[in-house]
Amino acid sequence: MKNSAVTGFGYRKMPVRFVMHYKKGKWRPGRMVKNDKVTISESAGVIQYAQTVFEGLKAYRTADGRIVCFRPDLNAQRLRDSCIRLSIPPIEQDVFLDAVARVVRANEPFIPAYGTGGALYLRPCVFATGPVLGVHPADAYEFRVFASPVGAYFSGRARLRISQLDRAAPRGTGNIKAGLNYAMSLYNIADAHEKGYQENLYLDSATHTFIEETGGANVLFVTKDRRLVTPLSDTILPSITRRSLVEVAERVLGLEVEQRRIRVEELADFVECGLAGTAAVISPVAEIDTGSQVITYPPVPESILESLHDILVEMQTGRRAAPEGWLWEIREKKEQK
Ligand code: PLP
Ligand code: COI
Repeated sequence: MKNSAVTGFGYRKMPVRFVMHYKKGKWRPGRMVKNDKVTISESAGVIQYAQTVFEGLKAYRTADGRIVCFRPDLNAQRLRDSCIRLSIPPIEQDVFLDAVARVVRANEPFIPAYGTGGALYLRPCVFATGPVLGVHPADAYEFRVFASPVGAYFSGRARLRISQLDRAAPRGTGNIKAGLNYAMSLYNIADAHEKGYQENLYLDSATHTFIEETGGANVLFVTKDRRLVTPLSDTILPSITRRSLVEVAERVLGLEVEQRRIRVEELADFVECGLAGTAAVISPVAEIDTGSQVITYPPVPESILESLHDILVEMQTGRRAAPEGWLWEIREKKEQK
């Protein structure tokens, strides 16, 4: 497995992870550990009331042999927002970045080789370890960053269905990366898989008229006249991939980008659809089943989503210059800034 091509997106236990604890009102210094097991109270806040948030980012090998992460400062910021929303003491950005760098360096032999399409996925997570019975925030937490080499999340062009269940309420937690958003989607994703769909496409839960996102990625569309259109909503996760692609579309491809509410009836007007995320990268969508019709997106010549995909991957793997500050190099320990 070391340094070779990796297929699929699954957990593979790595030798080392970073662990840090919060107790008596403070985050304590963290350390690298070999033990992948977590022992906590049966009454821990994470078990009883799902008090947990997480992040997802990747470490890539570049063409010239460096190891980099893509905009990890934005993951640090989003984890902070997620923590605050769930009353978890937030992690400072420099602590987050240092932990990511240490985990990548310690598991370096397992980063997939350049050019294979694989990467080392990092999963920073914070969870309540302190016991609770009444409903209130716990008084003890663990911050853990572990890694797993991964390949593609989707194989081939995805089939989606418009979900009959809701994902995120207005003023709820749809805009943060909380475990609870995924727990409530599990029944629905299992049901979708059983029926031959790869993902559920959620609508806004207030009116069921606007496109939101899937369970694990933001959604992008292309119009006949080559505009990039993506949903604007307070109840979707602010995807770092999508935000980056919007900039690439405007600055590199010179496209017009519309970030706005998108009605279900508009789906048939688009010529391309794709899913954007760290795990998904940009995965093309073949069709969307709305319940009353199936809208198809056959492959197109000169695909804009394919160009965006290629440019993004070239930036992430150092083959093309990325905007200032987007690539963060993981150096030997003594050199890390
Ligand atoms: N939306 C959801 C619900 C997700 O779980 C993810 C994955 O992180 C994304 C969107 C994509 O976000 P990002 O591009 O920051 O990985
Ligand atoms: C990611 O893209 O990092 C995610 O967390 C999405 C998840 C569906 C794997």
